[in-house]
Amino acid sequence: ENGHKQEIRVWCDGCYDMVHFGHANSLRQAKALGDKLIVGVHTDEEITKHKGPPVFTQEERYKMVRGIKWVDEVVEGAPYVTTLETLDKYDCDFCCHGDDITMTADGIDTYHLVKAAGRYKEVQRTAGVSTTDLVGRMLLLTRQHFRQGKFEYDVAKEHSSTMGQDSSARSPWTGCSQFLPTTQKIIQFSDGKSPKPGDKIVYVAGAFDLFHVGHLDFLEKARQHGDYLIVGLHTDPVVNKYRGSNYPIMNLHERVLSVLACKYVSEVVIGAPYVVTKDLMDHFKVDIVIHGSTEIAIDESGNHPYEVPMQLGKFLVVDSGNDMTTEKIVERIIRNRLEF
Ligand code: CTP
Ligand code: C5P
Repeated sequence: ENGHKQEIRVWCDGCYDMVHFGHANSLRQAKALGDKLIVGVHTDEEITKHKGPPVFTQEERYKMVRGIKWVDEVVEGAPYVTTLETLDKYDCDFCCHGDDITMTADGIDTYHLVKAAGRYKEVQRTAGVSTTDLVGRMLLLTRQHFRQGKFEYDVAKEHSSTMGQDSSARSPWTGCSQFLPTTQKIIQFSDGKSPKPGDKIVYVAGAFDLFHVGHLDFLEKARQHGDYLIVGLHTDPVVNKYRGSNYPIMNLHERVLSVLACKYVSEVVIGAPYVVTKDLMDHFKVDIVIHGSTEIAIDESGNHPYEVPMQLGKFLVVDSGNDMTTEKIVERIIRNRLEF
């Protein structure tokens, strides 16, 4: 060998359709196996060929993967079957994937080549979250019955009084998720960095349900207004109060991990008050409070959530330039599923 290689480059690839914290957690583990993480994302055409059309476009999927804080480079249009040529082309030492089998349309393990060459490592899949599970929850929002394979989704809206406090971390409405949150996972996802003296602190708050490209574009813009970005997440009952129906789709614990995985986020407030108070602003030494150009709901007592920062001259609306919403995702999913 010719001297020491400077850094270990790890390769991951996938569809990354409806990116969730399970994907983020696999990328986190992959990154820990080396120095640089390169992620190949398949095109819409390639995914359609092997498992049917994705819900999100390739441009949206590339952007979402780029937004995950452990990702160093994204390779657009990576092939479905991972070859040694691909690893070599991007100077990657090995390929990394979750401990589940991925097959092509012809039933071939997409990693058979890199496995045979000993250039494959496995990471642990995150139990309790998957695209299928999230889609199931979204279909529960509709008032009809849907058949998908053997499964029948029907509306079983149960009003739980323990929303957001339930240690089983079930979706408050559907009880679908088996994901168990631990402080360990939160520590793994967070930077653990405090603001530096003189840092301009930006505060934003919201539901951030089904963390999507609209949120990502908004957080990128918000972060540009300061050095340290704090995201306040409303509790499940608060979100349900202003969104209604079965929202939120993801419970508070899940939303915390999704937001923490975003590279623009410095810190998360787990269960932020709906109305931004002077206390909160003083406590976190907030310089500026930002909201996107989406509607701002008044609370049940008639309070505007940003009245205090507005009076202090510390409130700003920024336009994310992206019109994605959680509701639009649900509409897309329902349309997409009905096509089958
Ligand atoms: N992954 C994971 N934990 C999950 C879901 C996905 O670790 N709960 C990992 C997969 O093992 C893979 C990577 O995320 O290494 C991206 O794979 P992709 O093809 O996008 O994901 P799917 O396995 O299709 O994800 P899902 O089941 O949610 O559709
Ligand atoms: O709707 P939600 O509470 O999740 O939004 C969180 C923040 O993201 C809000 O400030 C909202 O205005 C912003 N946002 C945005 N562009 C989108 C979606 C959300 O600026 N497409």
